[in-house]
Amino acid sequence: MPNPLVIDTDPGIDDAVALLLGLACPEVRVAAATTVFGNVGLATTTANAGRLLAMAGRTDVPVAAGAARPLVFPQAQRAGEVHHEDGLGGRADTLPTPPPVHPDGAVEVLAGVLRAADRPVTLAPIGPLTNIALLLASHPELTPKIGRIVAMGGAISGGNTTPTAEFNVHCDPEAAHRVLAEESVPITLVPLDLTLRCAMPGEWVDRLAAGGPRCATLAAITEYYRARFRARRGVDAVPLHDAVAVLEAACPGTLRTEPMHLAVDCAPAADRGTLRVTNAGGRPVEVAVDADISALHAEILRRLLTIDT
Ligand code: BDR
Ligand code: CA
Repeated sequence: MPNPLVIDTDPGIDDAVALLLGLACPEVRVAAATTVFGNVGLATTTANAGRLLAMAGRTDVPVAAGAARPLVFPQAQRAGEVHHEDGLGGRADTLPTPPPVHPDGAVEVLAGVLRAADRPVTLAPIGPLTNIALLLASHPELTPKIGRIVAMGGAISGGNTTPTAEFNVHCDPEAAHRVLAEESVPITLVPLDLTLRCAMPGEWVDRLAAGGPRCATLAAITEYYRARFRARRGVDAVPLHDAVAVLEAACPGTLRTEPMHLAVDCAPAADRGTLRVTNAGGRPVEVAVDADISALHAEILRRLLTIDT
């Protein structure tokens, strides 16, 4: 019996691949997709999640809309230039119409999944951690039902939004601090340092594109990211950060982790949103530091190719 997985997401090009990957993993049952502001605004991330599920023929998976903004300060920066203003590399209009959004909000849908579960639930937040912070704060009685949170975010040695901060943590540092430093739920954090090392080579995308109509649509969404990465870094590759985290969520142990105590800089200063490794006590976070990268590429591709079978 597969374990329930909820993907909390801000699609987002790599979120799109991660969501489809989650659906393609037989080890888990995607019980809901909850959405959050992030790469683009909440209305767009929510519509995109619905479009992607419709493209996959999985409108049975509920989509619930969550936080439209961070907990404390307004969002400092969006990523429309990274993912295109439509969040899906300019391809959102080529996808099917999204199904209706769940009448309840993301936090209530997350709580409902936890309440109903008779097995540990995995949460995979691959956007800002706002919904997860709100869930943990408003439903502490349900935290024992969470088997593990596998989050993509943070950077140990250099950010992608400021010199030191990674996008998801920078979007809502207070939420990230709350989840990473002040809770006792088991967490695996998949930081930018590793996801950049796991960038898929261009020929990986070409093989995905040849896999069938759904895979071709997914590959077309990533082309915008691929072109931007090539222009900026001179490398033909696509960093699918969120897909790395979702594979670990479905297949624990895919990534090698080390326990670390973490904190997030929350002061309104240049370092805001920076992840810190501290000497504090409490429960450590398992931080993903390494993987068999070619095996990971092959495994993600093998699973994605099943969406067309
Ligand atoms: C993270 O930021 C977003 O732009 C991506 O979707 C990913 O979740 C990478 O820093
Ligand atoms: Ca994301």
